[in-house]
Amino acid sequence: MTCETCNGFRFVVKRDGTNNGSASRCPACLPSIDERMKAAGVPPRILAEPWNSEVQPWPEGLQRPSEAMPLLTIWGPTGSGKSTLAASLLRQHLEAGGRGRFVHVPSEVERIRNAYGKSEHDLAGELREDLRSFPGLLVLDELFQEEGLARESRGFELPLVQTVVSFREGRCLPTIVTMMLDPALVIAISPMVGSRMLGSKCQELNGADQRVERAIRMASGGAR
Ligand SMILES: Nc1ncnc2c1ncn2[C@@H]1O[C@H](COP(=O)(O)OP(=O)(O)OP(=O)(O)O)[C@@H](O)[C@H]1O
Ligand SMILES: [Mg+2]
Ligand SMILES: [Zn+2]
Repeated sequence: MTCETCNGFRFVVKRDGTNNGSASRCPACLPSIDERMKAAGVPPRILAEPWNSEVQPWPEGLQRPSEAMPLLTIWGPTGSGKSTLAASLLRQHLEAGGRGRFVHVPSEVERIRNAYGKSEHDLAGELREDLRSFPGLLVLDELFQEEGLARESRGFELPLVQTVVSFREGRCLPTIVTMMLDPALVIAISPMVGSRMLGSKCQELNGADQRVERAIRMASGGAR
């Protein structure tokens, strides 16, 4: 069915009374914010549960990364709401008309390890090129998940993160990373990444594991 607002042109022209007009995206055709979140790669599980300030207050003064402070590190224990917070900042960015991408790093590492046909080296290179110059807000979720478990797993992730983080920081491209590690400890894994994290905004989430909290509420007959 053809859109009645723009007749299928996808743009509408506003006239200001003179011969000058300005074109803008047709509001009736604009994909919904949830569709854009999905297209940006936000997992459905995270999409389904937006940040709720009653569960946990919004961290004081926290804003999306900016040109002046392009890197934001969100860190804290499992279930503390890191991915939810990152997705919420991404949503604000999309709502403001920006582009965004949400990448679950362990899944990408798995995908490259299990790929047939192309070499791991080529795939890792493609991903690196793709992510480092993405011209919008990039979320790298769950960095260094396997650190400490298996040192050999640093093989893929570390060069990827180093290139992407330093390239983007140098060009003021906004990036959010989430991880369980204390950023001060990242210095030991990669001085290059750790130093950039510590020199930029680090947001700690140190509340309770919200998955466990919800399970307790449900067990005691509460909602959600
Ligand atoms: N402020 C919040 N509002 C609503 N739900 C929340 C909030 N914080 C956490 N949760 C809920 O708690 C659960 C865990 O949150 P989330 O997945 O964001 O944690 P995480 O820190 O990324 O955990 P992990 O390190 O295991 O990835 C989710 O079900 C999420 O919806
Ligand atoms: Mg998470
Ligand atoms: Zn339209």
